[in-house]
Amino acid sequence: MTKKIMILPGDGIGPEIVAQARRVLDAVNTHDDLQLEFIGELIGGASIDVHGEPLTDAAVARARECDAILLGAVGGPKWDTIDRAIRPERGLLKIRSSLGLYANLRPALLYPQLVEASSLKPEVVSGLDILIVRELTGGIYFGEPRGIRTLENGEREGYNTYKYSESEIERIGRTAFEMARKRSKKVCSVDKANVLEATILWREVMDRLAPEYPDVELSHMYVDNAAMQLVRAPKQFDVLVTGNMFGDILSDAAAMLTGSIGMLPSASLDKDGRGMYEPCHGSAPDIAGQGIANPLATILSVSMMLRYSLGLTKSADAIDAAVGVVLDQGLRTADIYTPGTTKVGTCEMGDAVLAALYQA
Ligand code: IPM
Ligand code: MG
Repeated sequence: MTKKIMILPGDGIGPEIVAQARRVLDAVNTHDDLQLEFIGELIGGASIDVHGEPLTDAAVARARECDAILLGAVGGPKWDTIDRAIRPERGLLKIRSSLGLYANLRPALLYPQLVEASSLKPEVVSGLDILIVRELTGGIYFGEPRGIRTLENGEREGYNTYKYSESEIERIGRTAFEMARKRSKKVCSVDKANVLEATILWREVMDRLAPEYPDVELSHMYVDNAAMQLVRAPKQFDVLVTGNMFGDILSDAAAMLTGSIGMLPSASLDKDGRGMYEPCHGSAPDIAGQGIANPLATILSVSMMLRYSLGLTKSADAIDAAVGVVLDQGLRTADIYTPGTTKVGTCEMGDAVLAALYQA
């Protein structure tokens, strides 16, 4: 049976990195006879330029018909000054929320070949393998009321609402416990329960779930401490589960432990495991169009797509292995370059992964 994949290249380096990921996807599609079909759509600034909005309802409707989505990145200076209601990022938030993609999995895995590229000492990060489970469709990103209003004294005030319902907390909590079961069986739930009511409830719900997963050890940590522990002793963590905003911040920090955010894929899943796959990094407008961006996070996102939404483990393993081979060959894009390795561009990195596929 054919499976439909939506491709959303987006802005900045998005189209360049997605092009390489697409070549890899085409190769496994042919080699493993996966019967994947592709449809392209616009998102972010690219959609604003054509449709005047960052994601059309028609695009969302088409996305609903797909088995999985591959996204590049959105945003850039060209659209920084437009009305905030139609900023490129709103397209991303709209697709996450319209499709109910509440479970964002961000694995921070340090490839042994890149231990020198990390800004932390090798002994602190070698062997690092963390999974950040970020709630993606709630919290302060979506809470109402929100806005910028003018007070009686004429001063303006910006405001947002941080809220989580029990059911929202419970479903992401279950994702974290279930993921931990397949890993080292430890969940650390990150909150700010010493200050924020929304996260007092968060902690309560996590504690309530814990007895249902007696094989998994649950701990709690305040987000400020978690940020510190991530750069002090990151290997203490296995699965970290947290809300939307804390997850956004902590996952960037965790990314750098692995050498570069250019290496980090992500999956955003709905309740049935259908999902959208994208690199954790942004559109990097400063290097867009130069052919130097690292396509590996996007290529690894393809592997996550095959694994989590399509159940094609063998093809996913082949991609992961190919990435290992190119790193062994010493090939590095600028973001992961260290002296003694060979610097390559976006397309050359794609060429190398293709060459390594099924040769390994
Ligand atoms: C991410 C990004 C997005 C987020 C932006 C682009 C809206 O930083 O996926 O981490 O904050 O979720
Ligand atoms: Mg982010």
